[in-house]
Amino acid sequence: MRVLITGGAGFIGSNLLWTLLTGDYEVGVIDDFSTGHFDNLHPAAWFRTLDVTGPHLASTVAEFAPDALVHLAAQTSVPVSIADPEHDRLVNVEGTRAVARAAAAAGVRRVLSASSAAVYGEPAMLPLVETAEKRPANPYGRSKLEAESVLAEELRGTGTDFVSLRFANVFGPRQDASGEGGVVALFAARMQAKEAPVLYGSGRQTRDFIYVGDVVSAIMAALDAPQSLALEGLDGPAYNISTGAERSVEELSSAMRMSASYFGPIDRRPARAGDIERSALDPSKAQAAFGWQARAPFETALGRTIGWFAR
Ligand SMILES: NC(=O)c1ccc[n+]([C@@H]2O[C@H](COP(=O)([O-])OP(=O)(O)OC[C@H]3O[C@@H](n4cnc5c(N)ncnc54)[C@H](O)[C@@H]3O)[C@@H](O)[C@H]2O)c1
Repeated sequence: MRVLITGGAGFIGSNLLWTLLTGDYEVGVIDDFSTGHFDNLHPAAWFRTLDVTGPHLASTVAEFAPDALVHLAAQTSVPVSIADPEHDRLVNVEGTRAVARAAAAAGVRRVLSASSAAVYGEPAMLPLVETAEKRPANPYGRSKLEAESVLAEELRGTGTDFVSLRFANVFGPRQDASGEGGVVALFAARMQAKEAPVLYGSGRQTRDFIYVGDVVSAIMAALDAPQSLALEGLDGPAYNISTGAERSVEELSSAMRMSASYFGPIDRRPARAGDIERSALDPSKAQAAFGWQARAPFETALGRTIGWFAR
């Protein structure tokens, strides 16, 4: 199968790229390297340096002629989305529109597009199912939600199947700790450097932390599903990719201290704008549709991540 990954030089994209290339896949990457890294690319991958909102996207997708397209390229930082919501919307919404149109024009069989737990905002009830009320707490969550609608608007009835995968809080090797990376990457990098990790808020805020290896296996299961995944209705094509478990940031920090042998102080700061208090996503719809579930034991996955940062 030929798979094209937008954002393939990023954290999740490069983990997907390297895993696909161990199997029977030909893989292409489109990335503008705004947050991705050249080092993340695999020498066997076809790639083009390209902005998905730019003029050459359709011809580039047609040139690679993929069977399936995994759209991961995005503006992924909540603080950046607050500082510049127009840019966030351009990349996340108009970028998704351009990718969907290019895929349909190139006759791509299926598009998998990365959405996020951020579309839900502060939950009324946990764990969140796909049809739960959407109250995104920041421009990033709003643009991810709008991108889901745009994907359906562009692809329903075209013959290109589509899904929006709502990833929970992903962590693992290759996550960028230099900017606004996830809390696990930020903690791991600071603990390895024997510097105090920064903990925003009370530490009682919870997240559904999922290992990147599990996200990669979810994408691969969705790629292989024989039936259409774009079910009817607003949330029909949306699938939570999550563990369903709710863990506090304090719990995470304790587990990571043990794993990284870091016994220094924690730098506690006030909660940030746009952060929510609680999150956990019910993954049963993805399990029923494409037989996937998260398998990595949390401590083992944390250990692997810390090991990667140590290297
Ligand atoms: N990491 C998480 O916890 C998480 C959670 C929920 C959803 N997601 C979503 O998963 C996807 C991948 O996230 P990630 O954590 O790997 O982020 P990342 O920043 O590591 O990867 C994004 C990649 O997209 C590229 N990119 C950005 N804008 C582009 C553009 N206009 N044109 C071409 N390439 C562009 C970047 O250079 C980077 O390589 C994103 O859509 C993100 O919103 C991630």
